[in-house]
Amino acid sequence: QAQAAWPYPFWIAHRGAGKERPENTLIAFEHGSACGYAMFECDVKLSADGVPFLLHDDTLDRTTRGRGQADALPWAELAQLDAGGWHSDDCAGEPLPTLADIAAYCQQQGAALNIEIKPMPGQEAATGHAVALAARQLWQGQTVPPLLSSFQPAALQAAQQAAPELPRALLLETPWSGWAAVAAELQCVAIVFQQRRLDASLMQQARAQGWRVLCYTANSAADVQRLRALGVDGIITDAMGWARSPAQA
Ligand code: G3P
Ligand code: MG
Repeated sequence: QAQAAWPYPFWIAHRGAGKERPENTLIAFEHGSACGYAMFECDVKLSADGVPFLLHDDTLDRTTRGRGQADALPWAELAQLDAGGWHSDDCAGEPLPTLADIAAYCQQQGAALNIEIKPMPGQEAATGHAVALAARQLWQGQTVPPLLSSFQPAALQAAQQAAPELPRALLLETPWSGWAAVAAELQCVAIVFQQRRLDASLMQQARAQGWRVLCYTANSAADVQRLRALGVDGIITDAMGWARSPAQA
């Protein structure tokens, strides 16, 4: 199959700016931009009252001063949490961002966004639905749409039903039996592989279906060199030097 046009940059900053700033916060995105990144990956789930916001884990414990399940609090309470102090004193007081905050930032920067739909267990369809509708509204009139990705086919299926025009990518850690048929059913434009598992055979399987191939999370020169040789279309990275020094690979 022919490949569709691909409007996204090659280098994608993981969770805003990898590990150099508190993940999935606005200051991480600002740092990523300062390092030359024009595309970001972030993790999005829903508050108790259905607001899409950025957080990786199922609980607030690791990356905020709050405690407990991420979907136990309404947005008004989540908005009060310190999501930076766990990382470094300099970042203390940095709040959790909503998807709307990050959409505004990316559009102001002319940067692209990969929204990883990261549902709480059991919330796959509800999260895919809400995130897709929010993304459609937030990116209305923009030239480059956000790329919606998920490890959860049910989340992507809900996104497909809610906003079929938004591009989708299936995330695969260990490729499971039947993944290609599922990605085809979801009308994905790309597959995002765990970089260590990606090989020539998986590349060829994806290419045969016309899919673009991205990978996460490659940081070292050795990994980047191997992935470039395989012909990937993009790399999600924690290492903030790549956008300006790609020739090192
Ligand atoms: O979206 C790619 C990557 O972020 C998936 O893994 O755990 O970092 O969200 P994780
Ligand atoms: Mg992620």
